[in-house]
Amino acid sequence: MNIAVFASGSGSNFQAIIDRQKSGDLQVNLALLVGNNSKAQCFGRARSAEIPTLHMSPSHFESELSYANTLLAKLSESKIELIVLAGYMKMLPPQLITAYKDKIINIHPSLLPLFGGHGMYGMNVHNAVKESGVKISGVTIHAVTEIYDEGPILYQASVPVYESDSPKEIADRVLVCEHDSYWRVIKALADKTISIKNGTVRGSVRK
Ligand code: GRF
Repeated sequence: MNIAVFASGSGSNFQAIIDRQKSGDLQVNLALLVGNNSKAQCFGRARSAEIPTLHMSPSHFESELSYANTLLAKLSESKIELIVLAGYMKMLPPQLITAYKDKIINIHPSLLPLFGGHGMYGMNVHNAVKESGVKISGVTIHAVTEIYDEGPILYQASVPVYESDSPKEIADRVLVCEHDSYWRVIKALADKTISIKNGTVRGSVRK
């Protein structure tokens, strides 16, 4: 399975996927890293792992359509079958969501539908978790549809939240869980033990 990972920042999830692929736990082809900031750490990680990179930002294009068409052409050149969003901070063009229907997944650092939606990214999520007083948080991996954070859920894993936790401590615990989660979902999709069809998820992911 040819995979493109989209990332904007540190890319620790991307690294965790690379590591599982290198160890042989995950047998896929990491064909492309797509990012909007070529100075971000995720680009360095791709170079170290000899994964081709594509630096593309909507601001480089005259219109959203020409951006979308160029991106789609590049993905098609690399025969991409699955798009994995791993901390990608740009909106995807609707043309891409249509062309890759059921073939885009995202990771979110909370147990959706809790702490998702507008403004819920990065530390905002963990600050809100802390504020709410919930006793668990976790990771959600879901298919991507036009409505962010609302696509069908493929996998969730929880972590405890202790009263003494700072938002940063919650974030760190969730991130460890993310690193142990994403590759399992990618593997299950590659092995077809889980599938997404017309927004419906069948099968399950082994822990
Ligand atoms: C992760 O918390 C992920 O859930 C969210 O963005 C963050 C990316 O972190 N979508 P990293 O760049 O993989 O370290």
